[in-house]
Amino acid sequence: MTSCGACLGRMMVALTAAMLSTSVSSSRWGEEGVEYGQLGTSITLPCDRANGSSPVEWRFNGSADLPQRSSTRLGSLILLQANLSAVGNYSCYDDRGRLLSSRFLRLGYPPGKPSVLCHTSNYENFSCYWTSTLETFLPTRYITTYKNTHHPTSPCLQDPARPNMCSVIKPKIWSSYRMNITEENPLGSSFQLLVVMMHTIVKPDPPEALVVQPVPFFPRRLQVRWDCPVTWHKESHFELKFRVQYCSVLHASWSVVETVNLSYVITDAYAGAEHVVQVSARDFLDSGSWSDWTAEARATPWSSSTKETSDKTTTVELEDPGEGPSKVPHTEPFDPSDALEKVAILASMGTFAFIILSVALIITVLVWIRVRKKGKDQAKNRDFISVVHLKALPRTQIL
Ligand SMILES: *[C@@H]1O[C@H](CO)[C@@H](O)[C@H](O)[C@H]1NC(C)=O
Ligand SMILES: *[C@@H]1O[C@H](CO)[C@@H](O)[C@H](O)[C@H]1NC(C)=O
Ligand SMILES: *[C@@H]1O[C@H](CO)[C@@H](O)[C@H](O)[C@H]1NC(C)=O
Ligand SMILES: *[C@@H]1O[C@H](CO)[C@@H](O)[C@H](O)[C@H]1NC(C)=O
Ligand SMILES: *[C@@H]1O[C@H](CO)[C@@H](O)[C@H](O)[C@H]1NC(C)=O
Ligand SMILES: *[C@@H]1O[C@H](CO)[C@@H](O)[C@H](O)[C@H]1NC(C)=O
Ligand SMILES: *[C@@H]1O[C@H](CO)[C@@H](O)[C@H](O)[C@H]1NC(C)=O
Repeated sequence: MTSCGACLGRMMVALTAAMLSTSVSSSRWGEEGVEYGQLGTSITLPCDRANGSSPVEWRFNGSADLPQRSSTRLGSLILLQANLSAVGNYSCYDDRGRLLSSRFLRLGYPPGKPSVLCHTSNYENFSCYWTSTLETFLPTRYITTYKNTHHPTSPCLQDPARPNMCSVIKPKIWSSYRMNITEENPLGSSFQLLVVMMHTIVKPDPPEALVVQPVPFFPRRLQVRWDCPVTWHKESHFELKFRVQYCSVLHASWSVVETVNLSYVITDAYAGAEHVVQVSARDFLDSGSWSDWTAEARATPWSSSTKETSDKTTTVELEDPGEGPSKVPHTEPFDPSDALEKVAILASMGTFAFIILSVALIITVLVWIRVRKKGKDQAKNRDFISVVHLKALPRTQIL
């Protein structure tokens, strides 16, 4: 399967190379009967099939109104210092009004050197991005190639869906690549050369899934968490490190810390103030450059003052019970409203127990009086036992 894939890949590369070479040798730009001229220069348009002895008539866009500063010589039309208003359809006719030839004139400039930047967001691919440095007004294409000690000149692959970019797939990490990005149009070509080393152009994508949360009961802490960018391959041998920058909205100066972990606890936050947090990533060995910062995440440290924040801390606690709060006493005693409720419950329970105890005592006393009246003669032992038994009853009810 892999050999078949590799062979297909090679075929595609060969095909691309063939297409490139045919299009380079072809002087046509996809338009039949179009002539290209440089703005600001003099342009001579010959009238095909005319001979010097017979006069010809020129028309511009079907009309006899020719652009200013134009003249005919030996049947040819000459435009002096042509500008964009001279763009259009030129046709010539013989003295009997027969069309001899026609052509469409486009005007523009030869290409300037493209401006090129290469970067990679991992070590699997690298890409070069370019912009034209001159508006040429003409159809343009780019020929993109690279060379290194392992490869002769090979195409840097362009994707029609992503213009102004080409990619080198599976580059050798420690070798240097000589890139040639050539801008070409009907009036000429201009190339930009660039030496690229993988480890100098690596710039990871920003980290993802940034979350900032208050830490319950710590009014100066914020818990920050994030993930590696998905484009950074986890199985690669190249680790990332991170930097976290944070500031409170009240004191707009950033604090920056570095870590190799995917989380960080800010311990010097301003109590009660909202904080802005961002994270960026870089190759662990300081290769290349830092990624762009993530979008901002915001949070306010835990505080006891507002109902809203105490709600938040409760949810945090539910989400991960394993962290921080385990050393901290349980929430309930801290909540004054809860405590009041407890007191009320205890008080009502006490009242209930007191009533039961009183009723039981009254019954006991009544029974005792009766028993005493009826059986004064009976043995003291039995009397004593029954009284003890009756007295014990209310105690079990209290418990
Ligand atoms: C040039 O034009 C003349 C008159 O229209 C014609 O007689 C002659 O054959 C033409 N010559 C050529 C080479 O076309
Ligand atoms: C082109 O040149 C003509 C005369 O030289 C001028 O009138 C016209 O405004 C110019 N047009 C443009 C688009 O520059
Ligand atoms: C001539 O025709 C071309 C194409 O139709 C058009 O872009 C251009 O503006 C026309 N020029 C003039 C002076 O009418
Ligand atoms: C230019 O004009 C000629 C004559 O009117 C016409 O036959 C030809 O199709 C035109 N070409 C373009 C590109 O408009
Ligand atoms: C490498 O580039 C190709 C083509 O642009 C793309 O399809 C592929 O996802 C890229 N691979 C990585 C790992 O970025
Ligand atoms: C760059 O590529 C262009 C187009 O393939 C070629 O004409 C030019 O010679 C190359 N330049 C160098 C220095 O290789
Ligand atoms: C990274 O995490 C480990 C264990 O979770 C911890 O021991 C270490 O101090 C952390 N390092 C930094 C820089 O926060």
